[in-house]
Amino acid sequence: MSDKILILDFGSQYTQLVARRVREIGVYAEIHPFNISKENVLKIAPTGIIFSGGPSSVYQKDAPYPSFNFYELNVPILGICYGLQYTVFSLGGEVKNLTEHREYGKAELSILINDDLLKDVENNSTVWMSHGDSVSKIPEGFELIAKSKTCPVAAIRNTEKKIYGVQFHPEVNHSEFGKKILENFVINICQCKKNWTSTHFINESIENIRKTVGEDRVLCALSGGVDSTVLAVLLHKAIGDKLICFHVDSGLMRANESETIMRLFKQNFDISIDIINGQEDFLNALKNITDPERKRKIIGNLFVELFEKEAAKFKDCKWLAQGTLYPDVIESVSVKGPSQTIKSHHNVGGLPEKMNLKVLEPFRELFKDEVRKIGIELGVPEWFIKRHPFPGPGLAIRIIGDVTEEKVAILQKADTIFLEELHNANIYDEIWQAFAVLLPVKSVGIMGDERTYENTCAIRAVRSIDGMTADCYPIPHDILSKISSRIINEVRGINRVVYDITSKPPGTIEWE
Ligand code: XMP
Repeated sequence: MSDKILILDFGSQYTQLVARRVREIGVYAEIHPFNISKENVLKIAPTGIIFSGGPSSVYQKDAPYPSFNFYELNVPILGICYGLQYTVFSLGGEVKNLTEHREYGKAELSILINDDLLKDVENNSTVWMSHGDSVSKIPEGFELIAKSKTCPVAAIRNTEKKIYGVQFHPEVNHSEFGKKILENFVINICQCKKNWTSTHFINESIENIRKTVGEDRVLCALSGGVDSTVLAVLLHKAIGDKLICFHVDSGLMRANESETIMRLFKQNFDISIDIINGQEDFLNALKNITDPERKRKIIGNLFVELFEKEAAKFKDCKWLAQGTLYPDVIESVSVKGPSQTIKSHHNVGGLPEKMNLKVLEPFRELFKDEVRKIGIELGVPEWFIKRHPFPGPGLAIRIIGDVTEEKVAILQKADTIFLEELHNANIYDEIWQAFAVLLPVKSVGIMGDERTYENTCAIRAVRSIDGMTADCYPIPHDILSKISSRIINEVRGINRVVYDITSKPPGTIEWE
């Protein structure tokens, strides 16, 4: 069994980042809600525990408190921000409200004891603070190990009980030695071994998959995205021909997408794929539909129907493999509960019940960058791994208004040119996602000596880490001009190109 860090989520926007950092160090970490039961913690048997930050104040009426006394577990604990304040408050110290001086931003860390948690951390290095409360009296048995100008208690420790706390956020990049501090905790204090690696994950998963499915067959739908592709390769390694792969050509994909997927699998893995031709079904079902949510629902339901038909062809097929990732899993167990539905993502979660299939989700514990690393290790070519994410409902949600075959063809052409130019300019890999959107807005133009009256194409390129937040990627002006003139000259049906500079929030990445 690998060493593990349990992260208790008190509602900080950075909790996922803590898990990522610990995993980057090479140790497995998982996040659970602050009120996880003692029984479940004992089952997890963590090697170390991190209390995350959170927006609450410990004295607040409904402040989140853990469901039992964690200190009796005799496992090292690190409290971050609210996690530190909770530690202090629950062990007899005092926390006060910084009504006047809410501290937010960079601070210089003045180190008093630089071994143990703060070993090899430079004095006066930058840390990131974001707090409204602050520790005013440290509990008995603790000592102060760092402070800052505005924060007299920036870090404390109790070496005997192995309880630590920091007021700043070591997990964010702005904290210069943040990763070193987490490493000191995880490796030196908790004594975890660095064995969370792609190889380790692949070997363990293959064993688990074989044990779980036995002689049954497994169905895997390939979308052309990185997750389902890496999943299929992993499954094939584990169960060989008992894996049934298929791809639904919805007619709403990028140009030549189905061919690309077929070629990738044939050339690199010798995995055969059934192509289900759904183009007509999808276009018919979407006829005259303009509402974004209705489009999404119709497409989702149609996928379900086609999966059902495919599954029914195989009697001994009992499993449906899905590329569910860790952020999808923990979103539903967050402190505040599931967030409001902004868009219903095409998600085949309802499928297994209907189809009587059991779900196999080997990537439930992974972040996207970890899936990418595993893909590389499994031999998925780098150009494919680096492809931008593409949404399940495809171009239908990038054609504003009703979807027709003609509009899909127009958008495919514009999209191809846009991506080609990003590759030519060598900036494709710096961008999380780039795409074209077809707007039902006509405007007047002039080409040659002729008046035109055609549609508008919006182009969008964003930087992001996980798709949850994003900002506009600043494409240089000369490249923008080239993209615009190529699209207008080469794509019949578009006579104007606009550049979307909205960040997320307040915008979303896709337009619908
Ligand atoms: P939004 O538009 O919500 O998108 O900011 C965030 C990320 O999710 C992708 N996306 C989807 N992916 N099925 C998917 O598999 C969907 O229905 C879907 N909708 C949005 C989007 O492309 C971006 O990467």
